Amino acid sequence: MTEEKDWIKDLVIYQIYPRSFYDSNGDGIGDLPGILQKMDYLEELGVNALWLSPVFRSPNDDNGYDISGYQEIMEEFGTMEDWDRLRDGCKRRGMKLIMDLVVNHSSDEHPWFQESRTSRDNPKSQYYIWRDPVDGRPPNNWASAFGGGAWEYEPQRGQYYFHYFSKKQPDLNWASPQLREEILSMMEWWVDKGVDGFRVDAISYLDKPQDFPDSKLPPQPDGFSFPDCLAGRPGTHAYIREMNRRVYAPRNVLTVGEVSAPTVEELANYVNTSREEFDMAIPFVLPMVEIDTWSPEKLRRDAEESYAALKDQGWWARFFSNHDKPRQVSLYGDDGEYWEASAKLLGLFLHSLPGTPFVYQGEEIGMTNVKLPRIEDYDDPDTQNRYRQLLLSGASPEAALARAQLESRDNARTPMQWDNTEHGGFTTGQPWLKVNPNAREINVEAQRQDPRSIFHFYRRLIALRKERPALARGDLSFLDTGCNELIALTRSLPGERLLAVFNFSAEAHTLPARLLEGAGEALLSSYDRQGGCQGPALRPYEAALFPIN
Ligand code: NOJ
Ligand code: CA
Repeated sequence: MTEEKDWIKDLVIYQIYPRSFYDSNGDGIGDLPGILQKMDYLEELGVNALWLSPVFRSPNDDNGYDISGYQEIMEEFGTMEDWDRLRDGCKRRGMKLIMDLVVNHSSDEHPWFQESRTSRDNPKSQYYIWRDPVDGRPPNNWASAFGGGAWEYEPQRGQYYFHYFSKKQPDLNWASPQLREEILSMMEWWVDKGVDGFRVDAISYLDKPQDFPDSKLPPQPDGFSFPDCLAGRPGTHAYIREMNRRVYAPRNVLTVGEVSAPTVEELANYVNTSREEFDMAIPFVLPMVEIDTWSPEKLRRDAEESYAALKDQGWWARFFSNHDKPRQVSLYGDDGEYWEASAKLLGLFLHSLPGTPFVYQGEEIGMTNVKLPRIEDYDDPDTQNRYRQLLLSGASPEAALARAQLESRDNARTPMQWDNTEHGGFTTGQPWLKVNPNAREINVEAQRQDPRSIFHFYRRLIALRKERPALARGDLSFLDTGCNELIALTRSLPGERLLAVFNFSAEAHTLPARLLEGAGEALLSSYDRQGGCQGPALRPYEAALFPIN
């Protein structure tokens, strides 16, 4: 990373899912003026960068991840003037503004696709991936990420188009130089307008194998197989480098790639500085896989491995939550008895790792999963698809619903809980997605008034990053605790050393006493309310951060 790019190390990035953040006009949908009204809140929290999930024109098949106008604002969210005001508000407060760039696919309602589908020889004909039928059937057996096959027949052309996501999200054809030029100049346009960075959506799939071979992976219950040769192709890395050289590097733009990278080696392919691709990456893991495979030991190992892989030449995006995952306190913590301690523990763990921390809206007040009573209450197409697949594989409707309640991306998308009034103070109308009934107890207003709340814990955590340079830039070492649920780590810079300890379980566990030698008074503790950390015997979900003298 060049010296001039060093500023990204001092950021704490707050992700806003605009549809669910704050509704300014009572139509039940969060919007840009709503975000503007909450800028003081974000400043109070102390974050210095905002990432907005997509706010561009979209028919909302996948809540804005299906764009029909890249240089327009979604009507429900407001106008370009609202966006300009938001940009100015960010600049005034010294906050960076990061936009979501969705260029693996567009909406089928984008004018490019509307034209492309009409014939084989129109000017936009090559902007998407078109293939002839094979024996009257789709070109291969690939499944779409949202269920069913990945090909849709277009009678006007007598051809199929490829869509890795829903059929309303046709993949763009990056092999077309004209298409690439359209995208790159659109990106330049946004940067010229004042965007500081991009979170780049689903970026591992740009290049396609021209022969589209059948996948050898076992079929899903509906008979289609996930592609086995799509992610991370050399051609995709070449397109990413082209974006970097043309748009990011000359303008000092921050970039975060959302990537499919099951190993640290694959992750490093996107973020090792020598590759000139992204500054940091968000590796995508399916919620169902994360739920079934995570453990405190695995979190520690992943952190250790990614640290080793990138410490000399790279940087990390650190996140536990986003709009594609269940709520972190429900997934990795305890949303019952130890809700508060475990929400604080997770915050401290994430912010004590090297890298740029991401805070997803509502995480700072410990928002939890929701259990919506009927499958129809879920809006997310991915949840609906998983439910169908489970039924096809023989699960009962009750079991499939229970699984949806656990896995659904809507867990993270329920509206932000601002106060204890109706609909959590999110809207004066009917919210587009039900508000979690626990908004009565878990809300911003209650926590702002309580100095020991999760909100104030996050405020101190974010402030500490500025006060203690070792948190942002120190070396990382994990210490041996002799217990998988106990994690201890240090962050060190010349002249400054910090120790963080965590009990990742609902049982009490005792740390080897020698680990706390030299520790001063705790700077933060998940048991602040009970007087702070009192030595090596850690209570359930107890976590603390100490200076080492
Ligand atoms: C990843 C986004 O985060 C997710 O919400 C979306 O459904 C897919 N990419 C498709 O754009
Ligand atoms: Ca609205």
